[in-house]
Amino acid sequence: MKKIIMLLTAVTLMFTLAACGSNAGKPSDGVVSDSPVQTVEPDNETGQSNQTETQNPDQEETPDDIESKENGSKALVVYFSATGNTKAVAETIAELQGADIYEIVPEQPYTDEDLNYNDRSTRATAEQNNPDARPAISGGIEDIAEYDVIYVGYPIWWGDMPRILYTFFDNYDLTGKTIAPFCTSGGSGLSGTPKTIGSLEPEADILDGLHVSDSAAGNAEDKVSEWLGSIGQAE
Ligand SMILES: Cc1cc2nc3c(=O)[nH]c(=O)nc-3n(C[C@H](O)[C@H](O)[C@H](O)COP(=O)(O)O)c2cc1C
Repeated sequence: MKKIIMLLTAVTLMFTLAACGSNAGKPSDGVVSDSPVQTVEPDNETGQSNQTETQNPDQEETPDDIESKENGSKALVVYFSATGNTKAVAETIAELQGADIYEIVPEQPYTDEDLNYNDRSTRATAEQNNPDARPAISGGIEDIAEYDVIYVGYPIWWGDMPRILYTFFDNYDLTGKTIAPFCTSGGSGLSGTPKTIGSLEPEADILDGLHVSDSAAGNAEDKVSEWLGSIGQAE
């Protein structure tokens, strides 16, 4: 009888120990951690990055953060275009540079008749013949201070920038900015306009300008890319 009791005791003890062993390694309180901790695996080549980083999901990078990290500056494309050629080039630059874009819109839009340069008494030609003409701009740029590089585009009118560009440079102090001029025209080149811009914005850094002929304005991506590279602004 004594032997049977000892045998039963031994069997009970074995079952008890086996039950305890099967719980080993399980969380004691059943809580699953949801901590936003990301472990950075070591770089196999250098073995250096063996650390644990904590990321706060409320502090994700914005597109602006990423952009300024990538090229260290923020760009704006400003343009005036009466018949769409300069607009096409402006959009190409903005797309390639990931830049914001602002159109100089005249308070009084130019009609076809205003632009008829065969009649020298019409508005555009009369304005170009008057150095003091400053056609008014509708609206404005909210915060020009946030931009480092400003691309400024315009058609050539009678060998110069349209007078509304003079209004633009009167309205904004571009001290310390980098200005990259571009233009479209029938045949004339930049016609000295970068120099004129330099005289209107003496504290800005004026880069070499781009000229695109009006017939090529809608297909100027290669020319624009080449120019951006040549002025050190390629992405
Ligand atoms: C009033 C006026 C004057 C112009 N003067 C010139 C000029 O001196 N040289 C030139 O090559 N093209 C001249 N053009 C042609 C424009 O520069 C050209 O068509 C330009 O691409 C128009 O740009 P937009 O479509 O952005 O307005 C003139 C056009 C106008 C309306």
